[in-house]
Amino acid sequence: MATATIEPTAATQPAGEPVKLSGLRCIAYEIALNGWRILRETVNDFSLWRLIEYPWSAKALGLRRGDLVLDIGSGTSSYPHMLAKEGVDVIVLELDADRVRWQLAKRRATARPGDGRFFPLVASGTAMPIRSASVERLAAISSLEHIPDDEAVGAEIGRVLASGGVAAITIPYTSTERTDFFKGIRKFIRVQPNAFVQEGKVGSFFRFYTDSDIERVYVRPANARVVEWRGFGRSWLNGRYHETKLTKYWRRFVLKDLFLALIVHPLEERYDRSDPLYVMFTLRKP
Ligand SMILES: C[S@@+](CC[C@H](N)C(=O)[O-])C[C@H]1O[C@@H](n2cnc3c(N)ncnc32)[C@H](O)[C@@H]1O
Repeated sequence: MATATIEPTAATQPAGEPVKLSGLRCIAYEIALNGWRILRETVNDFSLWRLIEYPWSAKALGLRRGDLVLDIGSGTSSYPHMLAKEGVDVIVLELDADRVRWQLAKRRATARPGDGRFFPLVASGTAMPIRSASVERLAAISSLEHIPDDEAVGAEIGRVLASGGVAAITIPYTSTERTDFFKGIRKFIRVQPNAFVQEGKVGSFFRFYTDSDIERVYVRPANARVVEWRGFGRSWLNGRYHETKLTKYWRRFVLKDLFLALIVHPLEERYDRSDPLYVMFTLRKP
């Protein structure tokens, strides 16, 4: 698939209806896109974390029907499809051409009149074929941690974001240096400070960010302000579930994730002061 140059233009239509992407709605879309079987065992990257990230991101971007979102590292996720179903136009920017092809095929199979438009783009977040200062809404959901040259992608996000533009980013977090990941569960090898690769798994690069890394890699190059900051996956959802042997249930019985996302996650965020596994933050360019 050829790489194209896309130059998003400012919306000329009147503002559309606000998009409300709740956790329940995400699951309904997952079923519509992938069938009822996903309630038993989910597919692709959909998981508890996505039930937290997708609703947050749609809200953080203040999405309305007719808006355009640049989604960096879409993988084979349902997020761009959910946005399209909500009437939002999406640029699916992904390094892996097969995944972009998969996204396009999925889109063709599920498109309905009134959906937003879908612009698939095979490109790296480190060199985006997008005009400077032209993107008003950008999402990067659990994707930037897989890009080894994160300074390049940070610079690119800063370059393409328009004045007043918003980026909703979710990335792994740590306040101190992490020396292990999934200890005793999966074999992750430390390759740099706070960065790991899973033994025998190509493309499994995974980086944790400290506050100062986030400031250095994403905030300062964009000359942006952090306007929102939240965490998820602390000592309950991560420490007692995800990064433990219980992780074998991670992809199973999706309805349990609704309970964890809607009940346990808010409680954890309210009462648990331990490090979150991930942070979600929005950058706004002045
Ligand atoms: C965890 S997956 C995607 C998660 C997805 N955003 C979601 O909502 O589930 C990370 C994706 O980032 C992609 N990726 C890795 N390096 C990239 C790069 N330099 N530019 C764009 N995408 C990249 C990978 O191919 C992979 O599909």
